[in-house]
Amino acid sequence: MTFNRNEFVGAFSLALDFLESSLRSNVTNHGKRVALIALRLGEQLGLSSEDMFDLYAGAMLHDNGMTHAVYDAIDAAKLPDMERDASHCIVGERNLKAFPFLKNREGMILYHHEAYDGSGYFGAFGGSIPLLAHIINLADTTEILYSKGADKQAMMERLALWKGGKFSAELCEAFEAFGGNLGFWLSLDNKFIAQELARRAPKYDMALSLEELLPIAGIFRRLIDAKSPFTGRHSQGITEKSALMADFYGFDAERKAKLMIAADLHDAGKLAVPNAVLDKPGALDAAEIEIVKPHPYYTRKMLENIIGFEDVTEWASNHHEKLDGAGYPYGFTAERLDFESRLMACIDIFQALTEDRPYRKPLDQGTVSRIMFDMASKGGIDRQITADVLAANKENMST
Ligand SMILES: [Fe+2]
Ligand SMILES: [Fe+2]
Ligand SMILES: [Fe+2]
Ligand SMILES: [Fe+2]
Repeated sequence: MTFNRNEFVGAFSLALDFLESSLRSNVTNHGKRVALIALRLGEQLGLSSEDMFDLYAGAMLHDNGMTHAVYDAIDAAKLPDMERDASHCIVGERNLKAFPFLKNREGMILYHHEAYDGSGYFGAFGGSIPLLAHIINLADTTEILYSKGADKQAMMERLALWKGGKFSAELCEAFEAFGGNLGFWLSLDNKFIAQELARRAPKYDMALSLEELLPIAGIFRRLIDAKSPFTGRHSQGITEKSALMADFYGFDAERKAKLMIAADLHDAGKLAVPNAVLDKPGALDAAEIEIVKPHPYYTRKMLENIIGFEDVTEWASNHHEKLDGAGYPYGFTAERLDFESRLMACIDIFQALTEDRPYRKPLDQGTVSRIMFDMASKGGIDRQITADVLAANKENMST
């Protein structure tokens, strides 16, 4: 099966927008706008199509290292904006190690805040900064100014100040070639950015097998698990148990890989849920539960545009549906819920009950099976799958 790498980049970018909106209470399209500006710069500089393909992914994902910890650090230090903590460069570079770039892109994310004159976070300067990182930096810097309301005139004045200092003269001249253009300016608007970017995104199909997608799903998973310290290994635990259950049922390699990818991504929608709710050290009240409930819908929105991900989308997004229709977000009933969706729901419940939480220890074997069989007998979850999950995980539980 061939997957289009750019569809994953799009899904990732949506995930990052969700993350940002939950942490900063606004959706900025920051990644998309940075990607559009970077592609314009790349075109102007005459980059090869391979460089353009990787630049697109790098620009879309450049702030993937923005974690809860980074935001905490920013708030504690009263820094004015989200980019002012070097750790997001280090974490972001590490996260993307497994990403299938066409070439070695070492430093592209790590150095995306380095200045040409060496005044950046790590003191890299001039030619020691990879060109794609330097392009992303100018795109990032101009995007932030744009988002803060700078007009064309103000932007071009700032650019003149940076020329040969913060940015190389060559890069500034590339921006000057289109930066004063009204069409370019309008293309950055929230109303048009997605459409403009879809038109300009490099068309290139990279053949990736399902097994090759696992590390990419792992990048997503780490992003999701890093969101809340309370559930810091939740998705990882579900992926491990999905692998175990796939072997238990004798799934073939493709079905197992799909199940594991669905597990990695099942709570991707939680990136959109505010940490004030996710990090609450106790049971959620009714209003807070309503805030959490849309997350599997968001997961679906992230994944459903990826061609070949039809099963993964279902298995990942149905994990809070119940056989009797009492689940969410759709209230699907048994006929609509296939075996893997039912399995994912059981694994999710099992994982949550056996996890260590700040307000309680992992529940013991007897309590877990009592709770789960009770849910099964009320018609919420599949009884046989519940029995199988409990049997296969016997050793993983405290008694
Ligand atoms: Fe950044
Ligand atoms: Fe950024
Ligand atoms: Fe969930
Ligand atoms: Fe979950």
